[in-house]
Amino acid sequence: MTHTDLTTHTLRARLEETFPTFVQTLIDLIAIPSVSSLPQHSQDLDRSAQYVQQLFSDIGLEARIESVTTPEGVVGKPAVLARSPHIEGAPTVLLYAHHDVQPTGDPQRWSLEPFTAEVRGDRLYGRGSSDDGAGIVVHLGALNLLARDLPVNVIVFIEGEEELGSPTFDTFLHTYADELRADVIIVTDSDNWKVGEPALTTTLRGNCCCTLEVTVSEHAVHSGMFGGPMVDATTCASLLISSFYDEAGNVRIKGLGGSDKADVDWPEEEFRAAAGILEGVQLAGTGDLAARVWTKPSITVIGWDTTSVAEASNTIAPKTRLRLSMRTVPGIEPEKAMEALRAHIETHMPFGAHVTISDVECGPGYQADLEAPAVELAHRALTEAWSVPSVNIGVGGSIPFISQFQSEFPEAQVLVMGVEDPLTNAHSEDESQSLSDLKHAILAEALILRDLAHKP
Ligand code: BES
Ligand code: MN
Ligand code: MN
Repeated sequence: MTHTDLTTHTLRARLEETFPTFVQTLIDLIAIPSVSSLPQHSQDLDRSAQYVQQLFSDIGLEARIESVTTPEGVVGKPAVLARSPHIEGAPTVLLYAHHDVQPTGDPQRWSLEPFTAEVRGDRLYGRGSSDDGAGIVVHLGALNLLARDLPVNVIVFIEGEEELGSPTFDTFLHTYADELRADVIIVTDSDNWKVGEPALTTTLRGNCCCTLEVTVSEHAVHSGMFGGPMVDATTCASLLISSFYDEAGNVRIKGLGGSDKADVDWPEEEFRAAAGILEGVQLAGTGDLAARVWTKPSITVIGWDTTSVAEASNTIAPKTRLRLSMRTVPGIEPEKAMEALRAHIETHMPFGAHVTISDVECGPGYQADLEAPAVELAHRALTEAWSVPSVNIGVGGSIPFISQFQSEFPEAQVLVMGVEDPLTNAHSEDESQSLSDLKHAILAEALILRDLAHKP
């Protein structure tokens, strides 16, 4: 079989036959609890890397597992690196996804076992079904559809530490630069505009996390004896957080940038429904709703250590610790944003409470080059696969790996796409993947690979 029939019609028909096997692969992936942030799952992370390696070697790629240690001693998680048989003169395309997943949180909040997949209607439920098991299956499915007719050189890179912010990726990139160099890179870890409506992601926010420790006294004291003039550490930290916002609920820290305008209208009812926001709870900030998620900064408290309610007593807490996650505006360097946050904290600490900032981790945002020829080609493929016009969207989340890759290979054209959608519930309970979108995404990626052979 050599470069025979790669019409969209034929590929679509092939996919109709093979799609159930890809759904099964996704079910198998969900069964491996590859949580990168929890040490007790490190063997599961190894197992998922092995499973993914096998998937790609079964379809004729040379696949192996690699990990690196940074000069600072950070030990990387297992990544799968696979390549197709070399075709001289053909362009090289790198396909990216990640096999690590987020922890489940409280399993009681799930309506299923998080690592036992369940199909309900058009959706497949389970941790990692969408973020990013679906990304792996899209690459596998597209390569499977083209099979021996694959007209480009393909490198598959399935990372095992994306959910940690890709801590060893820079070292990985330098170690394997020759193998990772590509003309086009397809990142399948983002979302579509809506179920049934395809999109290319043109911006992502960056992310800066840091831990604050707020202290007010040398030890705890009786709240009746000292309360009033003496304010507890938890309250001081709360007042600090409130100083991040203006009256309208915009982040008011100077130097973070941001734009109020978006090209699309995100209806408030859809946003509220997707996030499960309770009636009467108002949205914060001003400007277009899409801009507030895509191109304005946000600060979220993602962890807080303080006296628990169960252990509460009439005592003034001397100390509290909290972890903040600040989403930064695309185009703004996250390290600069972190400096702005630090300056704000140091000048706004209520009652002069002491504060230290530690464990700072920053990952950059992303802005697509809309002039890249691959962008137009991708929109055509997405539109053809879904039979619905593909649109440009921004995304409020972050994939720091992309800019690291871009600075190493500035010539490469990047396509960020993905099969998550507003109902996916990524990082939360009852995560799910639309199966019809998954099928369309496999076809779209096969069409892109087919067409890139002629237009690198
Ligand atoms: N797939 C997400 C990125 C994403 C989020 C795409 C929302 C589309 C919509 C990715 O797995 C992710 O969660 N990234 C982390 C990065 C962080 C650890 C630096 C994020 O955004 O929190
Ligand atoms: Mn992801
Ligand atoms: Mn994620």
